[in-house]
This record gives sequence, C-alpha cells and structure tokens, in this order.
Amino acid sequence: MKIAMVGSGYVGLVSGACFADFGHDVVCIDKDQSKIDRLHDGIMPIYEPGLDALVESNVKSGRLSFTTSLAEGIKGASAIFIAVGTPSRRGDGHADLSFVHAVAKEVGENLSNDAVIVTKSTVPVGTGDEVERIIAETGTSHQFAVVSNPEFLREGAAIDDFKHPDRIVIGAESEFGETVMHEVYRPLFLNESPILFTSRRTSELIKYAANAFLATKITFINEMADLCEKVGADVQDVSRGIGMDGRIGAKFLHAGPGYGGSCFPKDTLALLKTAEDYDSPTRIIEAVVKVNESRKRAMGRKVLDALGGAEGARGKKAALLGLTFKPNTDDMRDSPAIAVAQTLTDAGVEVAAYDPEGMELAQPLMPNVKMCSDAYEAITDADVTVIVTEWDAFRALDLAKVKATAKAPVLVDLRNIYTPDDVRAAGFEYSSVGRA
Ligand code: UDX
Repeated sequence: MKIAMVGSGYVGLVSGACFADFGHDVVCIDKDQSKIDRLHDGIMPIYEPGLDALVESNVKSGRLSFTTSLAEGIKGASAIFIAVGTPSRRGDGHADLSFVHAVAKEVGENLSNDAVIVTKSTVPVGTGDEVERIIAETGTSHQFAVVSNPEFLREGAAIDDFKHPDRIVIGAESEFGETVMHEVYRPLFLNESPILFTSRRTSELIKYAANAFLATKITFINEMADLCEKVGADVQDVSRGIGMDGRIGAKFLHAGPGYGGSCFPKDTLALLKTAEDYDSPTRIIEAVVKVNESRKRAMGRKVLDALGGAEGARGKKAALLGLTFKPNTDDMRDSPAIAVAQTLTDAGVEVAAYDPEGMELAQPLMPNVKMCSDAYEAITDADVTVIVTEWDAFRALDLAKVKATAKAPVLVDLRNIYTPDDVRAAGFEYSSVGRA
C-alpha cells in the first residue's frame, strides 16, 4: 500500500518511517526544501533516539522517500496523512488550523485517485468535517473519505510508542475509510494492539481528553508535593501509595517542575477554547493550566530560597543541569527551565547551564544564560546546582567532584532523582520536590 505523509515534522517523520518499516511504501512530503535536502542526506530535523537508523534502513530498502512536491507525493497513495503543525494561535490560544486547511485544499486539487485523507495532527473537534468540506469544494472527481487518527507518541520514546501502542484510535464515518485504515494498521492488528473505531468527532476529542487528563494527573501530584513539604510527608511514597490502586494507576504521578513540551500546554489551552465555544466550561482544566503556569516560576523561587532568598541571591551563581522539557529530546517548547532561568536572572543571579541536546534551541530563549560544554563546567564556582531535567547523565554525578568544583555544596533537585540521605551524607544542603 502506498502512504503519503504530508508534513515531515516530529509526528509525520516518525509515523512515516514506522509505516515504511511495516512494509508500506511511504513518501514524506514537506514544503521546507532544506529539510527535505537534509533528509536526503540522512540528517534528521529532530533528535529522536533510533530515528536516523530507522530512516536510513527504510530509505535503503526503497520503501521511504522524501519530496517537496505534494502533487507528486500523493500520486497513487491510498492513505494521505495530514501531519502538519497546529500551534496555539497568537492571542487567543485556539489551535491554528491554517496549515491543516491549506493542505486539505492542495490535496483536493491534486487528487489523482480515490484516497482516504487522515488527520494525524492534533485538531479540535469538527476539523474533520471542515477538511471534508474543503476537499469537496475543490470539485475533485475522486472518491475520498476523511478519517481522524490521533497520535499518542511521546518524544524520546516515539518509535516504541508507535510500534507498540496502548491503543489505536480511528474515527471514520464510512466503510471506505475503515477498510483503508484496517490495511494501514494491519501489521499492528496482527500484534494485537487494541483498536477503537469510533466517530470522527469522538476520535478528535479523545486526543485532547487524553492529554488533558495526563496534564491533570501531573498537576494533581505537583500540588500534593507542595502539601507534602508543608506537612512533612513524602510525595514519592504518596505516588506509590495511590498509584498501586489500579483505578488510579502508577504512571504520570511523578512530581516535578511542571509539565512542558509540544503537546500538553498547547492542547490543554485548545481544549479550553473548544469548551468555551460550546458553552461547556471545563473548570478542572482551567485550574490545571493556571496551576502549571505558576509552578514554573515557583520553581525558580525555590532555587532562590536555596540561595538565601531573593535578596541574598543577587550576584550569586546558579548551575542548571538539563534545559529541555524532558530528557532524550532537544525540544525546549514550554520547558520549565525557561521560567526557572528567567526568575533567577531577574533576581540578579548569574546562570550557567548544560544540556546534552537542548542548548542550541535553548540559547535564543535564554540569552542571559551561559551555555557550557559539560555539567562540571556549568557547576564551576556555583553557589547552587539545580537539576532541572532528569537526563540519565545527571543521575550519577560524582558528588565529590561536584563539591570540589562548586563554590557551595547546595543541590536543588527538581526531579527527585537523588536520595536525600545519600546527598546529605555527601555533605550537601539538599532540597527536592515534595520531600520535607
Ligand atoms: C505527551 C503525551 O504523553 C503523548 O501521548 C502525546 O502524544 C504528546 O504529549 P510528550 O509531550 O512527548 O508526550 O511528553 P511526556 O512524556 O508525556 O511528558 C510531558 C511533560 O510532563 C514533561 O514536561 C514531563 O517532564 C512531565 N511529566 C510527565 C511530569 O512532570 N511527571 C510525570 O509523571 C510525567
């Protein structure tokens, strides 16, 4: 089966490479000539473990190719995926659908065979109806169906998530759509991955509801962490204690500096807008968004406290370890590190930082932060060392070396990757999240 993937960003490229690996014939399309040129040279536009090898082997086998021409790329494709960005629209937080709509129009104008058009981009409820209308309006003579198939992959684990999904959700309104999607995912059906066929609008909402629920879980445990600090309890054990209840589940209960990334912040906002438009306010999500936003700066203040309070901190030096919103990615979007660095520099603290993959994208977002070539360079003469992102490389720092390199043995661990007793035994003043 031939599949066209319109948009070769994070979701498009990972999905395209995985579909090719399943044995489909895949063309990834992108308007950005330099991105396509680089892909032809085997250079990935994003950092994702295992992606370069997967792309290379499937290009070699002839199942995966790249082009800037949508008309060429979709020729003969039975399934045409739309995987372009849906950023938050400036000013109102609505998902910006201009890229999705533009692709729908171009697909309709260039359709040269019957095909199923699949929205993989995260799109608000009703977008499938609009895509269908736009394609019909082009007057195409070919049979087409518009299907919703949201993606649940996590950055850093995207290939595994794609190949071993918890579930596949497909919102189709016709037999034609269902039949083609069956064929697209046949290798995964054989794997017995659970699949949910539902209506298109339901499928669109499932994606937002899933992300909003996970964001709520994280925000809930973060507030419990604050309470733990006040009442002298341990949030790690609270997580374990409630997570062992199968009705609650152990995942996404890790307290930290607040969620960031390309999905949760944007999707929770977009869901709020949809709820507002339909006069059905989602007050829980409203609270989650507010609490998470204020948490990021609160983490900066936590670091200031470790430096002796806002007044005492002026002129001191902080070392930030980890800048990306989570490990194993170079993605800086809505990373808590941005707010932490801002709070510190606003208070007159000198900030040095190191991240294994994120520094190139981080530098323009935090121009007053000195980027260093490794963790120990950042720590040199620091009054406080802060673990912002839990990269594996920071899990086993040589504490004796940290102590010898820094000005003061003060560690703020915003991801709870160290055991308080161990760090204190090594002579550190240690603070973490939700552990009194
Ligand atoms: C998320 C969803 O998990 C995925 O299904 C969806 O398709 C896209 O959005 P991603 O943004 O890649 O994936 O990262 P994820 O691992 O979900 O983490 C999101 C944020 O939550 C990160 O900032 C992470 O540090 C934070 N987080 C996650 C916590 O603070 N605690 C947790 O227990 C889990």
